[in-house]
Amino acid sequence: MSEATYTEAPVVLDVRGVTAGYGGEPIIENVSLQVRKGMITAIVGPNGAGKSTLLKAISGVIKISSGQVMVLDHDCTNLAPEKLVRRKLAYVPQVANTFPDLTVRENLEMGGYTRRSGLTQRIDELCELFPDLKASRRRKAGALSGGQRSMLAMARGLMLDPEVMLLDEPSAGLSPIFQSALWEQIEKVASTGVGICVVEQNTRRSLRHAQWGYVLVLGKNRLDGPASKLLHDEEVIDLYVGRMS
Ligand SMILES: Nc1ncnc2c1ncn2[C@@H]1O[C@H](COP(=O)(O)OP(=O)(O)OP(=O)(O)O)[C@@H](O)[C@H]1O
Ligand SMILES: [Mg+2]
Repeated sequence: MSEATYTEAPVVLDVRGVTAGYGGEPIIENVSLQVRKGMITAIVGPNGAGKSTLLKAISGVIKISSGQVMVLDHDCTNLAPEKLVRRKLAYVPQVANTFPDLTVRENLEMGGYTRRSGLTQRIDELCELFPDLKASRRRKAGALSGGQRSMLAMARGLMLDPEVMLLDEPSAGLSPIFQSALWEQIEKVASTGVGICVVEQNTRRSLRHAQWGYVLVLGKNRLDGPASKLLHDEEVIDLYVGRMS
């Protein structure tokens, strides 16, 4: 995709100079990024760079001390997570993102609990989008494979028709074949018009699937650009991305 096509897509999430942490020194400082409709934006950077912290700050899990988070035209800075969901932002944390004792269908129902109508229809739509879940509707989430559970967590996040979805390491711990299947699903979700912001350990793979990438180092923006350019930038690979498969 050309850079022009990317920049023509509307911005659905605009993070402007956000500083946040856990009470002591800030962990992320003055971080800005944009996520566009139907596009995949990857955040990459070394361990401990503050990638997960950034997602937590955007999604209202930790407090932002300065800066702004805009979802569409709404200022959503420091909104509680349950309010952000209503503002069309879904956050899928890396752990504890499904209820293991509930069935797949029950997990999806929980994800859509504030829907006024169309619960069953939405579940049906998501089962079409995630065929693996359709076959497992009546199974307990705890009995699913890692890849299926990750898909369920994404589907739960989609129950309230978000415009933006934040994914923290969705393919962590999956074998390469399951990682491929998961990325296929992420691309499918983006093609339905959702703007996706994904943090991944496997930076090379995430830049392969993303349209835009941000490199975060020591809690600060280092650089950003078309993912394909970052992927082939020798300096970026050596310094921040690493030469992994
Ligand atoms: N709950 C917490 N309380 C205090 N400090 C924390 C907490 N969680 C993370 N940190 C600190 O914030 C910094 C950034 O951590 P974070 O988890 O955001 O990095 P990351 O880029 O997601 O790393 P990784 O690639 O390993 O997942 C680290 O120094 C970490 O020790
Ligand atoms: Mg992390």
